[in-house]
Amino acid sequence: MPRKPFIAGNWKMNKTICEGIALANELKGLVEGINDVDIAVCPTFVALSKIGDAIKGSNIMLGAQDTFWKESGAWTRQIAPGMLLDAGAKWVIIGHSETRGRFGTVDAELEGVLNYFGEKDITVNMKAKAAFAVGLNTIIACGELLSEREAGKTDEVIVAQMKTDLAGFSNEQAMKMVIAYEPVWAIGTGKVCDAEEADRVCGVIRKVIKEMYGAEIAEAVRIQYGGSVKPDNAAELLGKPNIDGALVGGAALKASDFVGIIKGAR
Ligand code: PGA
Repeated sequence: MPRKPFIAGNWKMNKTICEGIALANELKGLVEGINDVDIAVCPTFVALSKIGDAIKGSNIMLGAQDTFWKESGAWTRQIAPGMLLDAGAKWVIIGHSETRGRFGTVDAELEGVLNYFGEKDITVNMKAKAAFAVGLNTIIACGELLSEREAGKTDEVIVAQMKTDLAGFSNEQAMKMVIAYEPVWAIGTGKVCDAEEADRVCGVIRKVIKEMYGAEIAEAVRIQYGGSVKPDNAAELLGKPNIDGALVGGAALKASDFVGIIKGAR
């Protein structure tokens, strides 16, 4: 069965509630009737429920940008998966390189503060399990640094991330997960990964999933590419056999650009 393309917009730390509602309303009009592509927007935590209200009844789903693995308790700053669900979210992004503390091409300069964000593959895995437990769907992100790519370690890094990030899911959970391959050096830099190469790495990810969960699940799981996806490069990337969608940052902040990418997936 062909995999349904999935385009998700990660708004990151952008848009006030008012601005987000305006963007959501504009998007809603532009994507009305598109039902051959899954579409989601992931605003900040504080805007979730209002954006959820704005897109209610439309074909746009709501996602959050991170979660914690505990249900409740004395965990200042954290947000439980059940709270995201309560706010209307269906999706949560886990393990984005920005929450992992892997900051694009400036990672070397920030070496001393990388641990601030403290995300590890094991916490990605715990967060994903906690999200599944309440019925949220996950977009699990992985990706290599420029230095890792230049050292020829891309596949090794990706395989290691995936093996821990995806460990121990039930088959039903694994079937529903979405993976986002996001080379860190391509995020927010305008340096998109070559489509052939992005497809190749997505193929490596699919192979790991096959080893972990079998051929049927590996064939069903959607793998997005993320990193400087724009309307003018979307169709080429999304036309590749192993790329089933996109996780979009900057271009998700403008309705016409985001819709251009969604159209590139059709
Ligand atoms: P970008 O971000 O589209 O701005 O490169 C992608 C992402 O971080 O998901």
